[in-house]
Amino acid sequence: MPVTHSPVYFDESFDVVTGYDMLKDVPTHLQNYPLGNKYKIFVSEDIAGLYGEPLFEGMKELRLNVTLEPIKDGEEVKRDTVAAKLRRLLHREEFDRRSCLIIVGGGTLSDLVGYVAGTYKRGIPYINIPTTFIGQTDAGIGGKTGVDDEFGKNMIGVFYNPRRIYLDPKLLVSLPNQEVVNGMGEVIKYGVGFRPDIFEFLEQSHEKVFARNPETYEFIVHESAKTKVSVVKEDPRETRDIRTSLNLGHTTGHGIEKATNYGLQHGLAVGLGLVVATELSAMRGIMSRDNASRIVALLKLYGLPTKISQIGYVVTKSDIMGPMVHDKKTVGGVVNYVLPNGIGSLQKNGMGGYSNPVGWHEIEKALDVIF
Ligand SMILES: NC(=O)c1ccc[n+]([C@@H]2O[C@H](COP(=O)([O-])OP(=O)(O)OC[C@H]3O[C@@H](n4cnc5c(N)ncnc54)[C@H](O)[C@@H]3O)[C@@H](O)[C@H]2O)c1
Ligand SMILES: [Zn+2]
Repeated sequence: MPVTHSPVYFDESFDVVTGYDMLKDVPTHLQNYPLGNKYKIFVSEDIAGLYGEPLFEGMKELRLNVTLEPIKDGEEVKRDTVAAKLRRLLHREEFDRRSCLIIVGGGTLSDLVGYVAGTYKRGIPYINIPTTFIGQTDAGIGGKTGVDDEFGKNMIGVFYNPRRIYLDPKLLVSLPNQEVVNGMGEVIKYGVGFRPDIFEFLEQSHEKVFARNPETYEFIVHESAKTKVSVVKEDPRETRDIRTSLNLGHTTGHGIEKATNYGLQHGLAVGLGLVVATELSAMRGIMSRDNASRIVALLKLYGLPTKISQIGYVVTKSDIMGPMVHDKKTVGGVVNYVLPNGIGSLQKNGMGGYSNPVGWHEIEKALDVIF
C-alpha cells in the first residue's frame, strides 16, 4: 500500500498525508489507522457523485461504519445557524467523541464543518480531504475553523485541528477554470510573501496550471502546504504575531469581501488585497517598483482582477475601509497590514512580528491603485 508520510508533517496528533490516491487508498488507510468507531462524510453536494459516493462505497466495502451527508457549500452556508443544524443532526445520530467526521470539499465546507466538529461536545475528531486549491494549500490545514456573521468574516470560530489531512492534488482536475483562478489568489500569496521559488515557478507555469498538468499541481499543493505548515507550527494560535503573516492580502481582501456581501470569491479578494499591500510597500519604499509590477503582472497572468472595475460589484473606498475597523488584525482602531518587502519576503516590525500599523490616510492613498 503506498502509505507515505510526506515531509509535510505536523506533529503526533496531526498528520498531513500525501502520496495517496484518495479514492483508492483512503478507505484502506482508515481501516489500518482508524480515527473513530463510526464516520460521517460531509461532502459538498456538487461533488458528491464524483468523490463522496466512491469514498463512501469504498469504506462500506471494508465494513467501516459510515454515512454520507451531501450538503450545500459556499460562503453563504458559513453561518452559525447552519452549524447549529449540523450539530443537531450529529446529536440525533448519537455521534460522540469516539466518532469521526470526514470533510470532502472546499474551504467553506472545512471552515463550517471543522467548526461543528470543534464545538459539538467540546470537540470530536475530524479529517479533512480538501478538494479545491484553497482547501489543499490553505483552508484545510492549520485548524482555523469558523463562520461569518454580520460583524464580518470568520468572526465566530475556534482553533481546532483535524486529526488527519489527506492531500490529493488529482482531485483538483475537476475544478472549473474560475475555481482555478480563485485558488491562485491564495497560492500567489505564498510566492509573494514567503517563497521566491514558488513565485518564479508560477511565472513559468500558467499554461500548465490551466491544462491541469499533474506534476504542476503536485508542486503547487505540496510546496504551498509545506509553507503553511511551517508557519502554523511556529505560532499555532497566532499569539506571537507570526501566523499573522499568512494574512498577507487579507486586510483589504476581507474588506472587499464584506463590501460585496461575500459575493466575490475569496481568492479574488485576496489578489486585490495583494495589489494594495504591494502598493503600500512601494509607497513606503520597502519594495521596488519593478518588483511591485512583477507581482501585479503575475496576478494578471492567472486572470485575477487587479482593479475593482473588473469584479462586477459596485464598491467604494469607504465600503472597503469600514469593515477594517473590525478586522481581527485591527487593534485599538489601528489597522495592521502584512507588507511584502520583495519577492518572497515580508517586512518585520520592531518586535519580530509581521503586523505593521498603517494610517488611514495611507490606506486611502494606496487603494487608488485598484480604483
Ligand atoms: N480556515 C482557513 O485557514 C482558511 C484559509 C483560506 C481560506 N479560507 C476560507 O475558504 C473559503 C474559500 O474556499 P474555496 O475557494 O475552496 O471555496 P468553496 O468551498 O466555496 O469551493 C468553491 C467551489 O468549488 C466547488 N468544488 C469544490 N471542489 C471541487 C472539485 N474538486 N471539482 C469541482 N468543483 C469543486 C464547490 O462546490 C464550490 O462551488 C473562504 O470562506 C475562506 O474564508 C479559510
Ligand atoms: Zn485566505
